[in-house]
Amino acid sequence: MGYLAVLNTLSQHSIRPNTRSDISLRPPSPEMPSESTGLRHFIQRLSDNGRLVRVKKPTEWRFEIGRMTRQSRSPLLFENIKEYPGRQVFTNGLSDIDSIALALGLECGHSQKSLLAEARRRMGSLVKPKIVPTGPVLENIVSASELNLLQLPVPHWSYKDRGRYLGTWHINVTKDPETGSRNVGVYRMQMLGPTQATVSASPGSHLARQFAKAEKEGRPLPMAVAIGVSEAVVIAAAAAYPDGMDEYDLAGALQQAPVPLISCQTAPLEIPANSEIVIEGAIQPGVRVQDGPYFDYTGTPNTNPNAFLFEATRLMHRSNPIFRGAAIGVPGAEDHQLFAFLAALNLVDFHGSRLKQRVQNFLLKQRLFLAFQFSGKIGPLLRRKIPSRD
Ligand SMILES: Cc1cc2nc3c(=O)[nH]c(=O)nc-3n(C[C@H](O)[C@H](O)[C@H](O)COP(=O)(O)O)c2cc1C
Repeated sequence: MGYLAVLNTLSQHSIRPNTRSDISLRPPSPEMPSESTGLRHFIQRLSDNGRLVRVKKPTEWRFEIGRMTRQSRSPLLFENIKEYPGRQVFTNGLSDIDSIALALGLECGHSQKSLLAEARRRMGSLVKPKIVPTGPVLENIVSASELNLLQLPVPHWSYKDRGRYLGTWHINVTKDPETGSRNVGVYRMQMLGPTQATVSASPGSHLARQFAKAEKEGRPLPMAVAIGVSEAVVIAAAAAYPDGMDEYDLAGALQQAPVPLISCQTAPLEIPANSEIVIEGAIQPGVRVQDGPYFDYTGTPNTNPNAFLFEATRLMHRSNPIFRGAAIGVPGAEDHQLFAFLAALNLVDFHGSRLKQRVQNFLLKQRLFLAFQFSGKIGPLLRRKIPSRD
């Protein structure tokens, strides 16, 4: 679909760029972490810069949010979701260079070269996270007996997906059962029921390796899922960062401010205090479930028959939480923008063969997104022993 056709579609849906300042930001207080390290601040910046499109008309979580997200390149805030009063969904946050610049606290108008130079400079001095006593995510706490993930406005992103995907632009936080070192990654999650979801982690990923250690002992692996965190945290989580190094340090460097963390209650894990939504729980040993089909970054529905099973035990969320998600599968969608940014910083690893990795890195650096999608589809031809995440 061409750009004009997309604009036409957006106007049919009566959505327009809006610069009104009405994202609910908390007034500063000494106990609470600064809003400047949260998703709301980023959405406010997009709005102040005339980039945010607010979707005010009633919107269906089934297919409509996903379809509109794929048809647009603008950041979209869905403010009126059918069946979910008071809940909002935010998509397309990192859809171009200007948005990435805003997410890193910079101004619009950077060239790609200058943005990358600034990111490299920042990565030179890591910024450790800061433990804080409290945070807005504690505003609402739902215990295991009351927990129902269907209370969240999780979109069914594509009719090609088997179900609703809870985790598309979030972080999974775990710790190595032997060394205690923390891993923060992005691994897709399909909702299976009120307390259960899949976790689709590539066998080469740090999460899969940590879980293998727990499973060998017959133990669950505690995991926290934070949805609606600062974009720098998601960028760092998606980065190929060496085992034993903390992605929160990288996020702090990228956003030039420590990530404020609070401790989970049912798991020995720390999550951003400004998160919109946090789900505590554990990956269950000795169980595998099917994830997908899911319309993934290659533009093809893809199934993982060996996904892990996550059992949720606690939910926390801000009042009127903003659910952050992504509708991917089209060339140049925000996951591609993020991967291209990371590839230029030499921070991409899809855990595939070395040859496939080189091809994908090259295509991402050149921003040849259609070819990048194709390279993901021909994985089996290039694959060595370790299967890639697709
Ligand atoms: C939107 C998005 C979705 C992703 N989905 C997955 C996934 O489902 N499984 C996976 O193994 N990696 C996925 N990744 C890539 C990982 O986040 C990335 O490889 C990261 O480096 C994993 O960290 P690790 O190497 O510490 O395991 C995704 C990345 C993004 C940005």
